[in-house]
Amino acid sequence: MDYAATGEAALARIGAAQELDALEALRVEFLGKQGSISGLLKTLGGMSPEERQTVGPQIHALRESVTAALAERKEALESAVLNARLAAETVDLTLPAPAAPRGSIHPVSQVLDELAEIFADLGFAVATGPEIEDDWHNFTALNIPESHPARAMHDTFYFPDCDTAGRKMLLRTHTSPVQIRSMLQHGAPIRIIAPGRVYRSDSDATHTPMFHQVEGLVIDKGITLGHLKWTLETFLKAFFEREDIVLRLRPSYFPFTEPSVEVDVGFALVNGKRVLGGSGDEPGHGWMELLGSGMVNRKVIAAGGLDPDEWQGFAFGVGVDRLAMLKYGMDDLRAFFDGDARWLGHYGFSALDVPTLSVGVGARA
Ligand code: PHE
Repeated sequence: MDYAATGEAALARIGAAQELDALEALRVEFLGKQGSISGLLKTLGGMSPEERQTVGPQIHALRESVTAALAERKEALESAVLNARLAAETVDLTLPAPAAPRGSIHPVSQVLDELAEIFADLGFAVATGPEIEDDWHNFTALNIPESHPARAMHDTFYFPDCDTAGRKMLLRTHTSPVQIRSMLQHGAPIRIIAPGRVYRSDSDATHTPMFHQVEGLVIDKGITLGHLKWTLETFLKAFFEREDIVLRLRPSYFPFTEPSVEVDVGFALVNGKRVLGGSGDEPGHGWMELLGSGMVNRKVIAAGGLDPDEWQGFAFGVGVDRLAMLKYGMDDLRAFFDGDARWLGHYGFSALDVPTLSVGVGARA
């Protein structure tokens, strides 16, 4: 048998193989269990020692050259496959950019983030409380007893049944119950804001049954009305991003603060629109009622488990939706909660427009 010729024929077929599958078929044909070269190796057993000595090396050489040729061809075909894939998978940088992502941050969410940022800078933590509240936290502990007319004023949504502990349950009418919860949970001193949803049975262009408030509470030693005024001024200047915000404090009444102050902010009429800034007493200016506040009533501090002879504080509550309307110029509160994509597209914020004090809490993308 001409082993050299057999080898050449095999190498020629291996070199001509164009596919990995075809190459594998050749490997099986030559070197598989039933393969032709494997068959030749088996013939060695039936040979005489002399014959084996001359033929053996030729068959082994044949097998080695075929094995090497298969490996070499396999590597060549594999790299050809890889190169073809790399060529097909290149990114075409001339393709147009994908459409801008839809969706935006609701102005209320944006303003809540702005508030958290501003007050964090003043050392306030964010506290929360339940929207389904009991009558004690929402009213009684805040010095609004059962017979108090303020209960009727709040247009409360009550649940028909009491909870398992026999408490009358309701949707909280303000964020002030978080004052009580914070004192009971953490003791004093306290510096918190408590933003969240509140509910009142009321609805027109400036009232919705659900709206947002942010409560502020500071409890410490030696706290005065001066601290309250400075805090509100600093907050409102940072929020409206103007230095000329002027406040007017008017005596008022809330059961949970004593004394109580209603805070007005000065505005100018520009083309029939109210623009915050400057004193409301200047010609062409006016005052707008903005928020309720006061020194925390001694009875409320006691209901929070603290000694009112030792601890004093101030509190304020302000409508978040109203702040958003004033800052970003919406005029119908109901549109806030309609979920109209056009309104959200117009007034919404980019997810990348994160409020920070360094960049500005109101920057719009
Ligand atoms: N809770 C009051 C309201 O909803 C606002 C307020 C809070 C007033 C804290 C004084 C102090 O109208």
